[in-house]
Amino acid sequence: METKEAFDLLNKQLPKGVFLNVKNDNKVNTMVIGWATVGRVWGKEIMTVMVRFSRNTYDLIKNADSFTVSVPEYDTIKKEIAFMGTKSGRDFDKYKETGLTLCDAKSVESPIINEAKVHYECKIVYKQSMDPTGIIDYENIEKRFYEGNNDYHMIFYGEILNVYDK
Ligand SMILES: Cc1cc2nc3c(=O)[nH]c(=O)nc-3n(C[C@H](O)[C@H](O)[C@H](O)COP(=O)(O)O)c2cc1C
Repeated sequence: METKEAFDLLNKQLPKGVFLNVKNDNKVNTMVIGWATVGRVWGKEIMTVMVRFSRNTYDLIKNADSFTVSVPEYDTIKKEIAFMGTKSGRDFDKYKETGLTLCDAKSVESPIINEAKVHYECKIVYKQSMDPTGIIDYENIEKRFYEGNNDYHMIFYGEILNVYDK
């Protein structure tokens, strides 16, 4: 698959949800993300993902070296996305509950989801939490996403080491 096709599938599926997979300290977790960007920073191909502090995934990714993003074909995997995107790895064995299975990635420690179609493998090179004072008063972003919860996103920048379909 061409990089462009992978990117097109990622963008098509993001509004419905794709899988963010992280392994650190022998613990693995998968959650659903709807926000991500792909572009260039520091002369490298970079994917950014945004994880709220409250997620179980955050507890793993904050000290991890890598993450992967596995892009499913939504129509075949709706129920699994609903579970991974609403339940926490703190309360459930999310793989047992959904039947989704993990497979070693090619170039990073974090695994990928077998049942997905396209995989991005990323080495974390930078992270930065959203600064509330930087939020511009535009379309009520602060109110709609953060008011009363103080649960801002940490943005993780990953160098894309591999993109492929399975
Ligand atoms: C379509 C969709 C998109 C989502 N996008 C994000 C996101 O970009 N960042 C985030 O922190 N949570 C996002 N979530 C919510 C998490 O997936 C959800 O809270 C999940 O249960 C967290 O799991 P964890 O506690 O095991 O990490 C999204 C959920 C859905 C259904």
